[in-house]
Amino acid sequence: MTARLHGVRSRLLLWIAVKNAVHPFRRLITRYLKRRHEKFDRQAGVCTAGTVTVEALGLSARDSHRYDATPVGFFRSLLAKLAVDYENTVFVDLGSGKGRTLLLASHYPFRAIIGVEISRELCELASANLRTYDWQRRRCRDISVHCESIAEFEYGSYGRSDQLLLYLFNPCGEAVLRAGLEKIHRVVSRGATVTIVYVNPTCNEALQNADWLEPVRHGETFDETSNTFMPYIVLQSASAQWSGQQSTLPSNSAPGCLRAGGSAPCPIGPVLSPAAVGAADRLH
Ligand SMILES: C[S@@+](CC[C@H](N)C(=O)[O-])C[C@H]1O[C@@H](n2cnc3c(N)ncnc32)[C@H](O)[C@@H]1O
Repeated sequence: MTARLHGVRSRLLLWIAVKNAVHPFRRLITRYLKRRHEKFDRQAGVCTAGTVTVEALGLSARDSHRYDATPVGFFRSLLAKLAVDYENTVFVDLGSGKGRTLLLASHYPFRAIIGVEISRELCELASANLRTYDWQRRRCRDISVHCESIAEFEYGSYGRSDQLLLYLFNPCGEAVLRAGLEKIHRVVSRGATVTIVYVNPTCNEALQNADWLEPVRHGETFDETSNTFMPYIVLQSASAQWSGQQSTLPSNSAPGCLRAGGSAPCPIGPVLSPAAVGAADRLH
């Protein structure tokens, strides 16, 4: 017990030291991380970087948060920490935006990858990115983008023996999150195992109040847009079997969702008619 406390204290002190050491260099780090975002897009032949405000998306600021892409390094280290049973796991990005995580997740042998995004413009951009992406490292072929709200998305026939990894990068307000959680609870009741990763968890209370979820991990990642550290949490349904390895990820960049403003280097593109973007744009 004493050894464990000692370990926790050492890790805490190390983390505080790292944060203090990083502080004076935040602008430099931010610039470096921004360049890495752009490099990913350039090399992969896609357009996923840049902020898009809720106003530009025509969404309600109460229910939806702005678009920012998950940092590449953060996503990879997150998956490494989760020790995922890929072949039996379906990855779902709730609020998938321009599809950055769908592209990154395709490097792992997930059973399927699903993006759920309310903005039709962003769904269309994600679909375009899926079409043009350099697929050399592709290990999952079943990738789809669903243009609908987290509050409406149904987990179909998933149930007993299915594992779902649900990723949320602070996509929405509390009411939407609560409605989405009800849908998730339903699939858990059918016997599915669910792990939720919630980055920049501004509506954390909704998850904390769900007694069928257990927090299993938390950490922080560097937010390049606001030059601050940003938390994330991982929760699992009570029946979840996965094992984690560490409780804190290395600092990295991950833009937050609560700030207004910001630039959008990648154009959102024209608004398409509902018929142009199907409910599910499946890519095989
Ligand atoms: C911070 S971005 C995250 C983008 C992507 N998940 C990533 O990590 O790269 C949040 C996204 O959630 C989307 N969003 C907001 N409200 C939503 C809702 N009710 N249903 C689905 N998506 C929503 C936004 O349009 C935005 O694209």
